[in-house]
Amino acid sequence: MAKSKDQVIIFDTTLRDGEQSPGFSMTMDEKLTLAHQLAKMNVDVIEAGFPQASVGDFEAVHKIAKTVKGPVIAGLARAMAGDIDRCAEAVKPAGKKRIHTFVGTSPTHVKYQLKKTHDQVLKMAADAVRRARGHVKDVEFSAMDASRTEPQFLYDVLQAAIEEGATTVNIPDTVGYAIPAEFGELIAAIRQNVPNIDKAIVSVHCHDDLGQAVANSIEAVRNGARQVECAINGIGERAGNASLEEVVMAIKTRRDYMKVTTQVNTKEIYKTSHLLISITGVPVQPNKAIVGENAFAHESGIHQDGVLKERTTFEIMTPSSIGLKKNKLVLGKHSGRHAFSKRLEELAYKLKPEAINKAFEKFKALADKKKDIFDEDLEAIVGEEISTASAPRVFELIHVQTTSGTGTIPTATVTLRKEKQTITDSSTGDGPVDAVFRAIERITGISGRLEEYNIRSVSQGKDAQGEVTLRVLVGKELFAGKGSSTDVIEASAKAWLAAMNKKAGK
Ligand code: KIV
Ligand code: ZN
Repeated sequence: MAKSKDQVIIFDTTLRDGEQSPGFSMTMDEKLTLAHQLAKMNVDVIEAGFPQASVGDFEAVHKIAKTVKGPVIAGLARAMAGDIDRCAEAVKPAGKKRIHTFVGTSPTHVKYQLKKTHDQVLKMAADAVRRARGHVKDVEFSAMDASRTEPQFLYDVLQAAIEEGATTVNIPDTVGYAIPAEFGELIAAIRQNVPNIDKAIVSVHCHDDLGQAVANSIEAVRNGARQVECAINGIGERAGNASLEEVVMAIKTRRDYMKVTTQVNTKEIYKTSHLLISITGVPVQPNKAIVGENAFAHESGIHQDGVLKERTTFEIMTPSSIGLKKNKLVLGKHSGRHAFSKRLEELAYKLKPEAINKAFEKFKALADKKKDIFDEDLEAIVGEEISTASAPRVFELIHVQTTSGTGTIPTATVTLRKEKQTITDSSTGDGPVDAVFRAIERITGISGRLEEYNIRSVSQGKDAQGEVTLRVLVGKELFAGKGSSTDVIEASAKAWLAAMNKKAGK
């Protein structure tokens, strides 16, 4: 896959390790949209999910394998026959497919989680790789918690996995415990002590619990690792994974020192990061390296003066190298449907014609309320459309009105349409948003508990849209909803209703 020994394979796990962390779950259509964009950005491998985890996970991996061309499509599987067979079925339609199987190898994992002996774990690893090779040629084996594993046992497990045909062996710093120099030494030691290591690509998968994930990945590459597993915006379990954009830009910017490359089209980085923000509703901090709002902003006089005289005084990368075009005013009130759909394509959205029509109607309504329309506004409109596309619109929001303030009881009146019927009801609540949710509950007859609520300003200016992303627990099932509007109460109503429509349409 890598075109030379100096190319680092970029393995994106946004849709697997990223998606499994709280607050980042995505619908099938959202996963598909992101996967298409990852392919456009030219990552080498997309880990699309964990097929055995749920039917939804299986279907997402299968659909991505069927429709996303270019990268290898990988699925995760525990070192168990059932997981591996299910994973093989999920990735089957892909042009290039991989099974990624793993087992814990550290003393705590072996003793407490698996309750097995070293010999038994070694056999599990070998059996798993052999079974996976029975399905596909491209098999990755991960020794989970490798950085806390006894070195000799780690070498033995890796050797056994390679003997059985593993083409990539992954060294995860599962709990983010390693320190860069130490992690680099571990990679060097593996390359020295595993006799058949030259038959496989050495990969790393670092978590950021001590804030070292990117540094550990870079140090591993310096010591011979040629695959880095990472995620957009660094999302992932707990403190997250190594951030893809930081790893890729460090390799690109310090090519003089690193002496390696990636094949990622870095001009797609900003767009991909924003797509993820728009899908999940979870922003990155302003000072986040590469993609944070301030990453290319020079506030102090000395810095501004320097950059104006000579860009390289305070800037090591150009904004355009990550595809950043700041504050781009994209469309206005008079823009037509053609310009609108063309811009959506440029923003990486692949929508069906009816979804484009719905999004265009929303764009026109927004253009009547808001003077300047930015890419972020379009992302919010389309994000709402994608998150609801697969659910029937049983209820439609017609009207919402609230009263609240100091000394008043927050009250909401909501009107919804269900088929040809319009229904109005009112409720009080702890605040205006809660009152709206209660009024919608009364009309739809569906009660839920709000588990998560995020609100963010989509673009800049006091007429900026607010985007609400929420999750509601109905019975034992979680439903996600998203809504945007220049009125945050209306955005909340839309988001709650989107979640309720998913329940009503089941
Ligand atoms: O962190 C980890 O060890 C993992 C493995 C499944 C690769 O995510
Ligand atoms: Zn992980």
